[in-house]
Amino acid sequence: METLTAFFFLFLTLGFILIFSLSTKPQEKTQTKPSSNPTSYPLIGSILSFNKNRHRLLQWYTDLLRLSPSQTITVDLLFNRRTIVTANPENVEHILKTNFSNFPKGKPFTDLLGDLLGGGIFNSDGELWSSQRKLASHEFTMRSLKEFTFEILREEVENRLVPVLSSAADYDGGRTVDLQEILKRFAFDIVCKVSLGWDPDCLDLTRPVPALVEAFDVAAAISARRATEPVHAVWKLKRLLNVGSERRLREAIKTVHVSVSEIIRAKKKSLALGGDVCDKKDLLSRFLAAGHGEEAVRDSVISFIMAGRDTTSAAMTWLFWLLSENVNVEDKILEEVRNKEALGFEDLREMSYTKACLCEAMRLYPPVAWDSKHAANDDVLPDGTRVRKGDKVTYFPYGMGRMEKVWGQDWDEFKPNRWFEEKPSTGPVLKSVSSFKFPVFQAGPRVCIGKEMAFTQMKYVVGSVLSRFEIIPVSKNRPVFVPLLTAHMAGGLKVKIKRREH
Ligand code: HEM
Ligand SMILES: *[C@@H]1O[C@H](CO)[C@@H](O)[C@H](O)[C@H]1NC(C)=O
Repeated sequence: METLTAFFFLFLTLGFILIFSLSTKPQEKTQTKPSSNPTSYPLIGSILSFNKNRHRLLQWYTDLLRLSPSQTITVDLLFNRRTIVTANPENVEHILKTNFSNFPKGKPFTDLLGDLLGGGIFNSDGELWSSQRKLASHEFTMRSLKEFTFEILREEVENRLVPVLSSAADYDGGRTVDLQEILKRFAFDIVCKVSLGWDPDCLDLTRPVPALVEAFDVAAAISARRATEPVHAVWKLKRLLNVGSERRLREAIKTVHVSVSEIIRAKKKSLALGGDVCDKKDLLSRFLAAGHGEEAVRDSVISFIMAGRDTTSAAMTWLFWLLSENVNVEDKILEEVRNKEALGFEDLREMSYTKACLCEAMRLYPPVAWDSKHAANDDVLPDGTRVRKGDKVTYFPYGMGRMEKVWGQDWDEFKPNRWFEEKPSTGPVLKSVSSFKFPVFQAGPRVCIGKEMAFTQMKYVVGSVLSRFEIIPVSKNRPVFVPLLTAHMAGGLKVKIKRREH
């Protein structure tokens, strides 16, 4: 049976390659059919124009969405399911909230990450998802988790991040460091300590990262690349034959699973022996205490690591770059953290200007550039776009942040002030902005569970770093935004670090 399937896929693949090699210079005009749906941009019924643009999909989709009267397009790809991409806040509300149950992640998505994430919260739907969500939401509202996380954050910043940057600043003539890499490793330490109560200690750039960290990177990258395969049968075939990237993926996943299982068993032992207080505060201990089985707990914590690792680092990397181009904005952040040696939990609550800067950076460079659901049944979006059962429905934070219709004519300016409104009694206060207009953390029942934790982390880091150091990018060129599963800056952010004179 397996061989038969393999042959079938092989046949499909060969046919596909044939179509490609026969078609010279794709002509976009002949590929565009008039739409039967007045509210969407004409169906781009072509795998050819898709392929021509697949290396600049973000820009392509954004341009098309601007042309569409309701910021919604439908992309039809040969051999692939239809994709509806929307940057329309009303549609987003419908998908993520009003008709939530009709728009699960769906098997085509969960297949991509299923080998790595199993049925963990990030990669499940229905009952499997909602039971994990309930438990996790409960823990995330607990004061004890917030305090535990803050303590981890403080230690990691004061004892690791600041010393790493100090040593770069002290280096004669200034050493160039990759700030994105530093922030990634920082975020990985934090998310592992919070989720597993395990310290990978990977911020020291002179040492190689632990095997688990390396394996996680490889597994996440290869899983994400599956999604960019124009025909999914190709990666499925490679997996079946255990060759190429799929073989490397299998090995990396095995390393992740074995390492995490070891950590779980050690934790169980320590808990059984009474453990010390710290042994009971991390998510792993909390999930074990709730009586979940070993494999379910493993999948759950891996999901948390996956969801919490590269997002905050991406947001902060872009903000640090934007600040280097907007000195007046940086000065205002400095005003907010002036005279504060170590930031306290209460100080963070007051850093609304820093928060506005983070939102503004994520509007232009969202850590999750797009995110897809799959329609369980036929439906109609508020703008009239028809959805067929099985369609892939994508909401697109990157495009939304760049729509004149959503943010006004000055959408391409970095303006943290747009997040404030004047109140006669109190002066400027943070505006409440609809999460459907700004779905950077998703929205509705499945909104990012780590949102508050993420802001705490980012404010603390941005404040602590800027009050001590000047960050000076080495290159004057505009960095390139690369959207994988989470987005990052191509080639990192190479900077010189200088101590700030007070
Ligand atoms: C700037 C930082 C962050 C951004 C922009 C962000 C964004 C998102 C987005 C867009 C989703 C929805 C993804 C999807 O359903 O496909 C999500 C889900 C999630 N995030 Fe975050 N996230 C951030 C930080 C974090 C952190 C620090 C944690 C945890 C420690 C975290 C934990 C989660 C979890 C567990 C989910 C899955 C929730 C569910 O499916 O019910 N996130 N996040
Ligand atoms: C939600 O989706 C279902 C299909 O599952 C559809 O029949 C129904 O009309 C939709 N509800 C709303 C409020 O649009």
